[in-house]
Amino acid sequence: METVLSGIRSTGNLHLGNYFGAVRNFVKMQHEYNCYFFIADIHSLTTHPKPENLHDNIRKVLSEYLGCGIDPEVATIYIQSDVPEISELYLLLNMNAYIGELERTTTFKEKVRKQPENVNAGLLTYPVLMCADIIIHNANKVPVGKDQEQNLVMARKFAKRFNHIYGVEYFTLPEPFNFGNDLVKVPGLDGTGKMGKSDGNGIYLIDDPKEIRKKVMRAVTDAGPTVPNSPKPEPIQNLFYLMDLLSDKDTVAHFEEAYNNCAIRYGDMKKQLAEDIIRFTTPLREKILDIYHDDVYLRKVVTEGAEKARASASKTLREVREIIGYKSF
Ligand code: ADP
Ligand code: TRP
Repeated sequence: METVLSGIRSTGNLHLGNYFGAVRNFVKMQHEYNCYFFIADIHSLTTHPKPENLHDNIRKVLSEYLGCGIDPEVATIYIQSDVPEISELYLLLNMNAYIGELERTTTFKEKVRKQPENVNAGLLTYPVLMCADIIIHNANKVPVGKDQEQNLVMARKFAKRFNHIYGVEYFTLPEPFNFGNDLVKVPGLDGTGKMGKSDGNGIYLIDDPKEIRKKVMRAVTDAGPTVPNSPKPEPIQNLFYLMDLLSDKDTVAHFEEAYNNCAIRYGDMKKQLAEDIIRFTTPLREKILDIYHDDVYLRKVVTEGAEKARASASKTLREVREIIGYKSF
């Protein structure tokens, strides 16, 4: 069976884009592949989170993934910093990662531009740590968004280089996981572009109904069509797209018809959309909050997850050390 792995940053809550674009697929995949999902809390240190927030950030994201249906009895879910073998492999891989190629990575260049006051070595070697994350379990498939594709290319390069330097066929070269038709892009409510954390246009799974209504009612619209069957401008298309994802077929058909007859009232459409989002997120939100407060359950999940992940990681690290030339006395 193929091994699928994905890292989840522990910075911020999940929004509908994360859910429909990633988490929903993870939940499905866990039954079809040997899956590893982990919280990338070491990666999160590049932005210097305060010690008093670090644990809670991890706990929130973990509760969200579990609440959405990642099943620790089926997939291996763990916290990166609980598996020290990853950090050791990262150190070993760093010896064959070159400054020039790391400096040319788009994600690094973007960070340099956005946060010139904090260009640390962890950011520079971010793709090396990501490579260690992946190859420590010899994962073949990695589901990542567009922005992470280059990091995955780098991971493949480092794995291939290791095999080449030591003349072995040890590491599997990881490939991006292609969702094909399942890939959706969830739009934001500000008229253009996609829903994202940094754009401040996100509807979060843990938003309460009041918050959701407020956000949806603020969505950008226009004066409405004046000619029957006219094409939809982007902000309107986005509202319909969200409705397609979250409302029943009849509801969508009703508003499509109203649009085509120039009889649409966006206020009504937004009210309906908000209620449909609330109907969808409420059970998830309740589950997430229950899990978040369940110390015993969370402790069990992370302990068992770390155990499973370390079993696989320590085997790899032992073999890697041997390949490099370490021997016991
Ligand atoms: P953000 O920072 O906006 O929360 P990330 O870049 O951390 O998003 O993405 C995490 C995962 O969620 C990625 O796999 C990405 O493809 C997916 N994702 C994020 N936003 C969207 C969106 N609007 N539509 C579809 N998928 C998305
Ligand atoms: N860098 C990824 C992100 O920002 C998170 C991540 C860390 C990851 N290690 C990984 C993703 C390994 C896939 C595989 O979203």
